Amino acid sequence: MTFDVLFLLYFILFMFVPCSTTAQTYRNISLGSSLDALNDDNSSWQSPSGEFAFGFRQIGKDGFLLAIWFNKITEKTIVWSANGDNLVPQGSKVELTADGHFLLNDISTGKDRSIASSAATGVAYAAMLDTGNFVLANQNSTILWGSFDQPTDTILPAQALNNGSRLFARYTATNYSRGRFLFTLQSSGGLMLYTTNFPQDYPYFNYWKTDTNGSGFQVIFNQSGSIYLAARNGTILNVISSNTLSKQDLYQRLTLDYDGVLRHYVYRKGTGSNAGVWSTLSFIPSNICMSISQPKGGGACGFNSLCQHDQGQPICKCPSGYTLMDSHDVLKGCKQNFAPQSCDEASAETDL
Ligand SMILES: *[C@@H]1O[C@H](CO)[C@@H](O)[C@H](O)[C@H]1NC(C)=O
Ligand SMILES: *[C@@H]1O[C@H](CO)[C@@H](O)[C@H](O)[C@H]1NC(C)=O
Ligand SMILES: *[C@@H]1O[C@H](CO)[C@@H](O)[C@H](O)[C@H]1NC(C)=O
Ligand SMILES: *[C@@H]1O[C@H](CO)[C@@H](O)[C@H](O)[C@H]1NC(C)=O
Ligand SMILES: *[C@@H]1O[C@H](CO)[C@@H](O)[C@H](O)[C@H]1NC(C)=O
Ligand SMILES: *[C@@H]1O[C@H](CO)[C@@H](O)[C@H](O)[C@H]1NC(C)=O
Ligand SMILES: *[C@@H]1O[C@H](CO)[C@@H](O)[C@H](O)[C@H]1NC(C)=O
Ligand SMILES: *[C@@H]1O[C@H](CO)[C@@H](O)[C@H](O)[C@H]1NC(C)=O
Repeated sequence: MTFDVLFLLYFILFMFVPCSTTAQTYRNISLGSSLDALNDDNSSWQSPSGEFAFGFRQIGKDGFLLAIWFNKITEKTIVWSANGDNLVPQGSKVELTADGHFLLNDISTGKDRSIASSAATGVAYAAMLDTGNFVLANQNSTILWGSFDQPTDTILPAQALNNGSRLFARYTATNYSRGRFLFTLQSSGGLMLYTTNFPQDYPYFNYWKTDTNGSGFQVIFNQSGSIYLAARNGTILNVISSNTLSKQDLYQRLTLDYDGVLRHYVYRKGTGSNAGVWSTLSFIPSNICMSISQPKGGGACGFNSLCQHDQGQPICKCPSGYTLMDSHDVLKGCKQNFAPQSCDEASAETDL
């Protein structure tokens, strides 16, 4: 009887330890391993279940992105990347060196970039875990570095966003460099959405926030699909998305999209009626067109534009007489098609 109770207790304890290392089955990537960025290859290191993979993705003709993606779906949706600002050409490589450094080598410059500089010594192997966390571990399987600690624009179930961390939206749907929006849990405890002062990446206009200065400690995304801000003592301070989902059937992610909306997405596994698409379960803010009204700058759709929202999504248009600055980048705003009128210059019109 006592044994049963103890066993149950252990079971419950293990269920509530996020990123429990003991529960993972590892497929080790040993020192001296490397992957090459090659056309039509997409070679990768997969998690034991095959649901996540780490490796290079070719981004059109622009080069290769070192990334982690959902590997069992056709979209191969990227959840983390190392070099969005700096794609590398074919022939570049990522290497876990014999002395435990994790390096991205750009063949065009010959330069190495450290991907996990915080794991300075003692790395014994790397592993792509089934949670989507790519880790470097020491001989004792203690995790020294994890991609979960350095999120880009997405967090996954079992991942937490610690106080002081930031997510940056990518620039466009297919350009992975840092874009115009930022989601941050400030060191002081406030959870915020900001526009950035693009192309610089510091916060500019705050368009959504919680009143949790002094108490916000961690954003938690749990397996059943609840995403919330918790205090240090575990109290839930703010619910970002609350859902009771069966994790077996669904892939999930929370992404700060390039349009500035933070969305909780789900994707039904298998071949059911809703299989095969990412659908939005919930999003913040409720109306981004109205939320962004910065004193200087262009709002959610850029200068001279019209913003209309459709279930949280901004639909950007130009008023008549204006056209898009860049047809591949609708958030950049609109420019006028006519020469501006001027009252202080002599012209035929002045006489009238
Ligand atoms: C590699 O990935 C690209 C882009 O996702 C895809 O077009 C191509 O078919 C893939 N190649 C192989 C051999 O799977
Ligand atoms: C991975 O490496 C660690 C440390 O060398 C070792 O203890 C563990 O058994 C290895 N796991 C697998 C699945 O090879
Ligand atoms: C690994 O664990 C052993 C025994 O607990 C300890 O003596 C050793 O210092 C640890 N090594 C590392 C690299 O943490
Ligand atoms: C992505 O957008 C940035 C910002 O406009 C630009 O500097 C960069 O060249 C773009 N990257 C690619 C691969 O097009
Ligand atoms: C945020 O983290 C820092 C460093 O761990 C800590 O000193 C601070 O108290 C934390 N803030 C809150 C609101 O918990
Ligand atoms: C948050 O609290 C800190 C320390 O109490 C204070 O310095 C800071 O101004 C506050 N920030 C906001 C946005 O209220
Ligand atoms: C937990 O922390 C919050 C915020 O700091 C506080 O309001 C609450 O009273 C605390 N609860 C307990 C049980 O300590
Ligand atoms: C996730 O969080 C919600 C809200 O706190 C809770 O009801 C649910 O039991 C949690 N699920 C897991 C698997 O921890």
